[in-house]
Amino acid sequence: MGIQITPSILNADLAALGAEVGRIPSADWVHVDVMDNHFVPNLTLGLPVIESLKAHTDLPIDAHLMIEDPDRWAPAYAEAGCGSVTFHVEAAKAPVRLAREIRNQGARASMGLKPATPIEPYEDLLGELDMLLIMTVEPGFGGQKFLDLCLPKIRRARAMMDRHGVQTWLQIDGGISLDTIERCVEAGADVFVAGSAVYSASDPDAMVADLRARAESATP
Ligand code: DX5
Ligand code: ZN
Repeated sequence: MGIQITPSILNADLAALGAEVGRIPSADWVHVDVMDNHFVPNLTLGLPVIESLKAHTDLPIDAHLMIEDPDRWAPAYAEAGCGSVTFHVEAAKAPVRLAREIRNQGARASMGLKPATPIEPYEDLLGELDMLLIMTVEPGFGGQKFLDLCLPKIRRARAMMDRHGVQTWLQIDGGISLDTIERCVEAGADVFVAGSAVYSASDPDAMVADLRARAESATP
């Protein structure tokens, strides 16, 4: 599949989301951060806003659910037409069943790990997942500093995927910028969320192109 850039609208003007998604036409996905004030200490938006947003963009929606009880709520995001739905393994009661439900609803199933959550216990689940999300900040807020301590986990996850021969995408979220994207590519990631880097740029779509070029030049 190659490198994909998925801007997060968390740092966009949330009162003008329809226009804001129009500023990133060359993105591969639009990443929407759903936070419930329980799994993370922040509250953003949910399904009704995503359903409205869909009418304003042709980009597929990459829903990142930072919520408690994803077993109950995540399938509805797939049913509503999100192209990819990420739940957090720290919150999921039955991640295998949940991933299968998301796939059955026609979306790509993705599982997220916070920085302190190891990948090793989930090695045998990789075949159930279309994407693995490794967070490189503590989830909850945009604009935080990239955590280099997550790089070895990215490397180990890529090695596991190679070993199992799966086609699972490896997404990185948190602190991605022109300064940090290359080391993630070198560690084996291929899908990049970028919030503040894209939406604090004067031309967000030019930043999408710059991030893509920087990542492609670092691709082995
Ligand atoms: C943080 C969110 C991220 C956030 C990234 O919990 O999951 O998607 O928008 O923002 P930056 O790129 O600014 O770290
Ligand atoms: Zn996110």
